[in-house]
Amino acid sequence: MTDKFKRFHPLRETKEIRVKNQETRLKKSEFIMPIFIHEGLLLSKPINSLPGIRQQSLGTLDDEILEVKEAGLDKVILFGIPKSKDALGSEAANPNGIIQKAIRQIKKNFPEMTVIADLCLCEYTNHGHCGLIKNDKIDNDATLESLKKIALTYEEAGADIVAPSGMMDGVTFALKSVLNSKTKVWPYSVKYCSHFYGPFREAAGSDFTGSREAYQMAFTQREEAEREAKADIEEGADALIVKPAGPYLDIIRDIKNQVKLPVIAYQVSGEYAMLKSVKNDEAIFYESLVGIKRAGADFIVSYYSKEIARTL
Ligand code: PBG
Repeated sequence: MTDKFKRFHPLRETKEIRVKNQETRLKKSEFIMPIFIHEGLLLSKPINSLPGIRQQSLGTLDDEILEVKEAGLDKVILFGIPKSKDALGSEAANPNGIIQKAIRQIKKNFPEMTVIADLCLCEYTNHGHCGLIKNDKIDNDATLESLKKIALTYEEAGADIVAPSGMMDGVTFALKSVLNSKTKVWPYSVKYCSHFYGPFREAAGSDFTGSREAYQMAFTQREEAEREAKADIEEGADALIVKPAGPYLDIIRDIKNQVKLPVIAYQVSGEYAMLKSVKNDEAIFYESLVGIKRAGADFIVSYYSKEIARTL
């Protein structure tokens, strides 16, 4: 006798059958590990707001990259913390600044590593904003000139990819007009003004308590995200970053359905800190990362990248 309804249990009965029918699988090659390098450190230093993550020094950087490599990863995204900050974020464009040195060191000792350089003024300005300030406002176009200069030093140091994260209008066009075609540009196209960035402040050596609402996107916006993504594509982006990830799975799926470029989702510091605080964090992270991939992410930046890779 045939059933009058569909039976799903047979597909779930044994582990073997479940694995065979699994739709979403995580791969090591999809994960990107963030690394913080502090110019003022000799040894690495724990970041209290991000349990298990440390700020590195140039002296400890090789060991960290080796761990990343041994976990089976081949992509890192770098954040630099300079010893001195000023209103213009001048140190960011120093050809011998911390991030430029870190890029050169990684490319020399681990040439197979793909090095992504996060590009933003916020770690380098004393006011903590992502751009230059004029009359109490972000001066978008002056910031673009500054970002172009900084990006050229990252390219010269050997970065494979620059990832402008400050949500400046026209940044992709600006960078594409000065970088050579081998250096890829992955803008944070869809970056929300999010409270989930809280723990990053300590990691990036920032005591910023202001607001970025005047330039980052409000989390009430969905259609605006599509317009941001389209603008970056027209300006020549090589991939798009969506950030945060977990609370924005609808946005990841929207962008994935609309664009023919790789979509990178950034599981940010607040997401990491929350998930890390529960018992059995490995299972929780696995589920959340599968969710991000299922939503449409081609690559994922996560502070858990190294740990998840060890389990895959
Ligand atoms: C800006 C930048 C931030 C993050 C990555 N790049 C901070 C911000 O925009 O306020 C946050 C990442 C995280 O929370 O993990 N350079």
